[in-house]
Amino acid sequence: MKAVVKDFGFAMRPMREEDVPAVLRVETAAYPYPWTEGIFRDCLRVGYCCWVLLAYEDVVGYGVMSIAAGECHILNLCVHPQVQGRGLGRRILRRLLAIARTHKAGTAFLEVRVSNRSALVLYALEGFCEVGTRRAYYPHVGGREDAVIMARSL
Ligand SMILES: CC(C)(COP(=O)(O)OP(=O)(O)OC[C@H]1O[C@@H](n2cnc3c(N)ncnc32)[C@H](O)[C@@H]1OP(=O)(O)O)[C@@H](O)C(=O)NCCC(=O)NCCS
Repeated sequence: MKAVVKDFGFAMRPMREEDVPAVLRVETAAYPYPWTEGIFRDCLRVGYCCWVLLAYEDVVGYGVMSIAAGECHILNLCVHPQVQGRGLGRRILRRLLAIARTHKAGTAFLEVRVSNRSALVLYALEGFCEVGTRRAYYPHVGGREDAVIMARSL
């Protein structure tokens, strides 16, 4: 079966090595402290679940997830700022969680900045609950910022 999922003009498929430059462009547009090219290449190399969302062949979003020991960890979920707020983040997240279920993961975890309102709302709407805090986990202008740890059962 071809690993491409199409929906209303957008398509999702597994990320490839050659997608990394386009992924990096979205990453740097969306995050103040973006992942490096090396991190994305490492995620592909170790076999993490990495999917891209395409609009007319352009990468406009992606998700990165690890799955092991009955748990999945959403490591990155990102939509280009120009197309945020159109349901694409939810679509990528649901796709990742569906994949995690096929691997028999029972719980999903993620971390999110305390200030990241759009992500916190999305995750809460998708069934994630706050289960903890990592103090000073993220770099932030003038210091560090806490991460909220969220989880949901699958
Ligand atoms: C967080 C992110 C992935 C959400 O993707 P998105 O495509 O913009 O979000 P969606 O359109 O799928 O929104 C899903 C729900 O989240 C909520 N939401 C999204 N943006 C919101 C905002 N700015 N304020 C409040 N709620 C918001 C809405 O309730 C929305 O549902 P609704 O439109 O049915 O009301 C995206 O904003 C992003 O890439 N941000 C930068 C990277 C990032 O912070 N990633 C998360 C790291 S943990």
